[in-house]
Amino acid sequence: PTPSLAKAWQGQLLIGAAVDEKNIKSQGELIANQFSSVVAENAMKPMATEPREGEFHFEAADAIVRFAQSHDMAIRGHTLLWHLHTPDWMWQGRNGQPADRNLVLARLKRHIETEVGHYKGQVYVWDVVNEIIDEKQADCLRNDKWHQVVGPDYVDEAFRYAHAADPAARLFINEYSTTEPAKQRCLIRVVQGLQARGVPINGIGHQMHISVFYPRVEEIDQTLTAFARLGLENQITEIDMSLYKWKDNRLYDTRENLLALQARRYGDIMRMIHNHPDVTAVTWWGVTDASTWLNQDAPADHHDQPLLFDAQGQPKGAFWAVFNAARR
Ligand code: G3I
Repeated sequence: PTPSLAKAWQGQLLIGAAVDEKNIKSQGELIANQFSSVVAENAMKPMATEPREGEFHFEAADAIVRFAQSHDMAIRGHTLLWHLHTPDWMWQGRNGQPADRNLVLARLKRHIETEVGHYKGQVYVWDVVNEIIDEKQADCLRNDKWHQVVGPDYVDEAFRYAHAADPAARLFINEYSTTEPAKQRCLIRVVQGLQARGVPINGIGHQMHISVFYPRVEEIDQTLTAFARLGLENQITEIDMSLYKWKDNRLYDTRENLLALQARRYGDIMRMIHNHPDVTAVTWWGVTDASTWLNQDAPADHHDQPLLFDAQGQPKGAFWAVFNAARR
């Protein structure tokens, strides 16, 4: 049988995967053997857990938590606050009035207290806020509804609500494209602001939705070094490695060559991570190439293969590269 990634990396890194009820059903044994951590791909997002005010749905996420606990796996919580996959009621006023700050904060407080409270002691780390950086804004924050209605301190509030609900949970800010200089500078500035105000933040999640072409391993290395200076924990939270360029349907080499390049880059990245003791986990955004989000809204002939296991659940060159990069 295929050796276990989780065991090979035990004591060095948690090796995680994004899961849902489908892949737990079809690949449960593979997930339990290969990974030491899971995260719900969608089941813990605002739209899924509180689609209507005060109406909480945890069944799907509970199934994932039960699965993880039965296999002694750690559980990441994703995500308490986002500008996407969030129901409009959270930002609306009553009787058609514009929402006011206190109303929206009260809703955010109840959402976070209820969800974090529900998983208290079970979820060891939360992505409290997801993708809130916009380097084109003066205050570095995306000008989304949370920012428009509550103001920039909605971020502080979200962290404080989560900490109050489960003081033992580690609280993260999660972001994509953290290797891009302007975005990186903004994220560091926002995190330093939170730290300066005594906001209970423990770490930074780097999503790492990358491709075989970009970014270079050196850029990821530099990024992790830059964030290590903040004295917080870092995690790679959503890694996958597309064979395509973003929003481009063309393959620029044979699949075989692209998959060989993918394996080499995954190995290079995982060997580089040994030099970053503040990085505590690497989570893949999916299990097999059969169910990657990258094929979700893509043309029918767009077959991305970004993960470690092929569509049949067999280990790819990428799997062996990650396995061999573990220290013996
Ligand atoms: O569950 C409903 C289903 O009832 C409905 O029939 C169907 C019709 O569209 O939609 C289903 O919800 C979809 C959901 O995935 C579950 O499959 C949403 O439309 C779809 O937008 C959602 O996409 C997810 C996306 O986040 C938005 O939440 C992707 O699966 C998920 O991989 C992606 O993950 C994000 C991370 O959370 C944050 N970082 C980026 C990453 C990739 O976009």
